[in-house]
Amino acid sequence: YEVTWTASAAEKGGYDHFMLKEINEQPRAIRDTLTGRISEEGDQVIFDEIEWPAGFAEQIDRIHIVACGTSWHAGMVGKQAIERLTRIQVDCEVASEYRYRDPIVTENTLMVVITQSGETADTMAALREAKAKGVRVLAITNVVGSSAAREADDVIFTWAGPEISVASTKAYTTQLIALYLFAGWLAQERKTPFASELPSILSGLKQLPELASHALQTAPAIEKFAKNWADKNHAFFIGRGMDYAVSLEGSLKLKEISYMHAEAYAAGELKHGTLALIVEDIPVIAVVTQEQLYEKTLSNIKEVKARDAFVLAVAFDGDEEIAKSVDQVISIPRVNPFLAPVIAVIPLQLLAYYASVVRGNDVDNPRNLAKSVTVE
Ligand code: G6P
Repeated sequence: YEVTWTASAAEKGGYDHFMLKEINEQPRAIRDTLTGRISEEGDQVIFDEIEWPAGFAEQIDRIHIVACGTSWHAGMVGKQAIERLTRIQVDCEVASEYRYRDPIVTENTLMVVITQSGETADTMAALREAKAKGVRVLAITNVVGSSAAREADDVIFTWAGPEISVASTKAYTTQLIALYLFAGWLAQERKTPFASELPSILSGLKQLPELASHALQTAPAIEKFAKNWADKNHAFFIGRGMDYAVSLEGSLKLKEISYMHAEAYAAGELKHGTLALIVEDIPVIAVVTQEQLYEKTLSNIKEVKARDAFVLAVAFDGDEEIAKSVDQVISIPRVNPFLAPVIAVIPLQLLAYYASVVRGNDVDNPRNLAKSVTVE
């Protein structure tokens, strides 16, 4: 008889690449990261792993989120989530900048490091620097026993499972889950007025595994799109608020594995320079999920359409207004806009994946990049 599969195909669970397998594991990874962290009544976040001294939750007046790459992009969403629910000022910075600029900290500063591997050299240096200054450090990491898990004062594990592909996917979405839960937990501990939103946010979080499965069904349409599109050399991603944070991640994914030049812009910043590059057929990918910014982003879409750009929008199911205004829409299931990054990023991961496949690249091992950068 004939062996029609190889050991490496078996490892990939029948998928062509680890990246596609990991993208498809997101509903499971999100569910695992939520498990045990929401009370049965659905109104409380449970984080027994955080053991802060009495009074510390009330005392914090500044949070520094520090990370690299995709983890930094997760932090950009986390900053907005924490600020909204707790009204504590949050800075989010790349570790290679933070560590060398003698950041201003006090005993009321909390540092949150986000690192999939728990071993990134710059992130670990920033963590050690903060600890030496007496700052309490919370690590969000995917690897039990990693340096970050061992050296931080408190740890929230993401339960994404091993991520093999260099391009991070399920680690990112589970970092988002950990950050939403943490934002909710901190609001609850500080008894902020925003804690009243908690039951509805927690019920939204519980729906995400299923909504992520729906979002994965965009794959055939995206694959088809990528086949006609992957010969382009440039792409711009635009969005506002949380959609901007997601745009940064979509753009990084595309660069990393398809080697297309991509840039993400806060949509309102386009007119301050980048609009000069928007000419006929330039691909613009617009992420439009934030209600309160909808009209603003729509008007930016019209600005690029007026210059004959090709606009692909990631928007909610049934958004007729967007459908009329752009060339193609990738619809994602409706979700509380506060949680939308978890779902909106999925088609962008798929877009990068299929663009890379069409261009014949080594998807799981892109040139010049490493999964974990443990030296400077
Ligand atoms: C490398 C990887 C990225 C990752 C970054 C931070 O550059 O290629 O995918 O986002 O490191 O890694 P960390 O393990 O700290 O999250």
